[in-house]
Amino acid sequence: MKDQFIFFCVNIGNENLLKEEIKAFCPELTLSYSRKGFLTFKNKGIKFDFNTISQLEITFATRTGICLGKGKPEDLKETILDTLEEVNLSLDDCVIHNYSINSNYAFDAETDFDITVNEYSAEGKLVLNIISLGEKEVWFGLHRVSKGITRYPNAHVELKIPDSSPSVAYIKLAQTIELYALKFTSRDSWIDFGCSPGGSSSYLLSKGSKVWGVDTANVDQAILSHKNFKFIKSSVQNLSQEDLPDCEIHWVHADLNLNPNQSIKEVLRLCKKYNNSLKGIIFTVQVVKLENIKLIEEFEDIFYDWGFATTISRQVPGHKKEYVLIGQRRTKR
Ligand SMILES: C[S@@+](CC[C@H](N)C(=O)[O-])C[C@H]1O[C@@H](n2cnc3c(N)ncnc32)[C@H](O)[C@@H]1O
Repeated sequence: MKDQFIFFCVNIGNENLLKEEIKAFCPELTLSYSRKGFLTFKNKGIKFDFNTISQLEITFATRTGICLGKGKPEDLKETILDTLEEVNLSLDDCVIHNYSINSNYAFDAETDFDITVNEYSAEGKLVLNIISLGEKEVWFGLHRVSKGITRYPNAHVELKIPDSSPSVAYIKLAQTIELYALKFTSRDSWIDFGCSPGGSSSYLLSKGSKVWGVDTANVDQAILSHKNFKFIKSSVQNLSQEDLPDCEIHWVHADLNLNPNQSIKEVLRLCKKYNNSLKGIIFTVQVVKLENIKLIEEFEDIFYDWGFATTISRQVPGHKKEYVLIGQRRTKR
């Protein structure tokens, strides 16, 4: 039987985080090839197929798929069509996500295949990833979009930080919400733990939400004077549930420069006040030490035990040494 290879795309500079995660959770995968932002592993364990590969939920991968091979741009179309035929597929079965990593060159799949590429792919769609690493090196592979898998090509979503945002942290929350299609309405109220100087709050306010921000540091004046923003200047450790608003809170965002064990404990303690109204939490986990990666599942279990029916841990393009743990409650019909 043919060897199976799996490809992972990763934020440039975080290749070691991905390797550490694979070592901790998928020891049956052994590193085969590594470039900035792109790695392949040989699978020595039970084989995945195009459907089950999406169950391999790797936090530090912006895209995961079964690697089918690589080629040179001049004969790539033929190579891809032949390879698809070998696995009883044709181009009509797939949508194409065509992107480049750490290179100015991108294979022109749109012209070569005479097909629209990089469309937001619906759940259930089989995606053919064409990944240019350079003019002489284009890889391709497949995955099927399922729950918890972003529908955007290599988690790339066009979003800009507005000039009015007091910090670049705006983008981390904006990308998380867009990539994982988190549903909130302008009627939803938020608590933003670690809100200063105000990037994440400015994103939420721009969507019409009411926001209570918590931080020990100061908040940008424009945010502070916004009619839908209220500031609670305190450390999370010194807050009690009585210090928090008495109205319904639907979502919590937390991005604290604190040891994750401590920030999870404090934030979940405070969230208990909103047990009846809370729909979800978006919690940034700082990767303080490489070995903290071993705690990914443990942290998800803590959120699950609290009452979040689904939990996923993902790194979005705007993240550095951190990832987001998203917990969602069961929605009432
Ligand atoms: C990454 S920054 C948050 C960025 C912010 N969300 C934004 O969008 O501009 C982390 C924040 O956590 C705050 N912080 C750290 N420890 C804290 C604590 N124990 N209680 C409250 N805030 C804390 C820091 O003051 C800092 O503003």
